[in-house]
Amino acid sequence: MAERVWLVTGGSGQVGGALAAAPPPGVRIVAPPRAVLDLAAERLDIAPLLAAEGITAIINCGAYTKVDQAEDEPELALRINGDAPGALAVAAHAAGIPIVQISTDYVFAGDKPSPYFEADPTGPTSAYGRSKLAGEQAVAASGARYAILRTAWVFSPGGANFVRTMLRLGRERDTVGVVDDQVGCPTHAGDIAAAVAQVTLALEDGRSGDGIWHLVNSGETSWHGLAARVFARAALRGQPAPQLNAIPTSAYPTKAPRPANSRLVTGRLYHDFGIRLRPWQEAADEAVDAILAGEGDTRP
Ligand SMILES: NC(=O)c1ccc[n+]([C@@H]2O[C@H](COP(=O)([O-])OP(=O)(O)OC[C@H]3O[C@@H](n4cnc5c(N)ncnc54)[C@H](OP(=O)(O)O)[C@@H]3O)[C@@H](O)[C@H]2O)c1
Repeated sequence: MAERVWLVTGGSGQVGGALAAAPPPGVRIVAPPRAVLDLAAERLDIAPLLAAEGITAIINCGAYTKVDQAEDEPELALRINGDAPGALAVAAHAAGIPIVQISTDYVFAGDKPSPYFEADPTGPTSAYGRSKLAGEQAVAASGARYAILRTAWVFSPGGANFVRTMLRLGRERDTVGVVDDQVGCPTHAGDIAAAVAQVTLALEDGRSGDGIWHLVNSGETSWHGLAARVFARAALRGQPAPQLNAIPTSAYPTKAPRPANSRLVTGRLYHDFGIRLRPWQEAADEAVDAILAGEGDTRP
């Protein structure tokens, strides 16, 4: 069997890092750092890299992920999240290989009273969400075989994420206030990476058509609910537990609006690939344990 070689962007991030750290058997990962493959480049030409490395699939985990900052630099966010996926996908098409694009719940307005299906109308309310939607559209229009996987509320032992922030605040403060009127599906980057690998294999082998799938851990909660789980697990491991207060979104203003409802329905992923991610509670507990065991990195 010919060797599989996957180009993974964002290899220093949560999802790309998890994928690069644990590729499936028989897969070689090429994960160039930003200095080598800059998604903000005016002219992104990856054809030479694809040819030189013999790339058989592209997985775009790289993204401009600073949601609030994107309001101040929407052009840069659009270049990285909208134009770059399009350029990667066009190159994938030319090379006859598939592309997997990681996307987000932020493509939705968040005002639906029930969880979002893949086919629900999009309506991003932030510059970040609009840039990610542009990326979806560019990939779908490229002619390449593609899978767009929308995930949400990503955490991992390393990188900047809510679970790590809560553990830090729990050490620094006696009282922590967390919003309880935004609901979503917290998701472990390692679980995303494993599922992305399965989908990529299926796409490469022609066992899947093109499409959009939602990819999150099972179950749902609020940010407050996730914080409560994190502090409960940390307390079991001997960490001090702060008093946790529920606050409304209005008490925690952010530059970019956040979707009130980020819940994603994952039935399509199960139907088409047999993939169902474990409950978010289990995944969050595992991340807390890993962070407390010092397995994460030292970034804030
Ligand atoms: N985090 C979430 O809660 C969340 C929720 C829904 C969807 N998503 C999506 O999931 C995917 C992965 O997110 P993540 O949490 O793993 O992101 P992350 O940890 O913030 O990592 C982002 C990655 O993108 C890279 N990157 C940023 N700008 C770049 C550029 N100009 N050129 C090359 N690389 C660049 C970063 O490299 P550097 O190390 O050089 O900065 C880093 O490796 C993204 O598509 C994101 O939109 C994330």
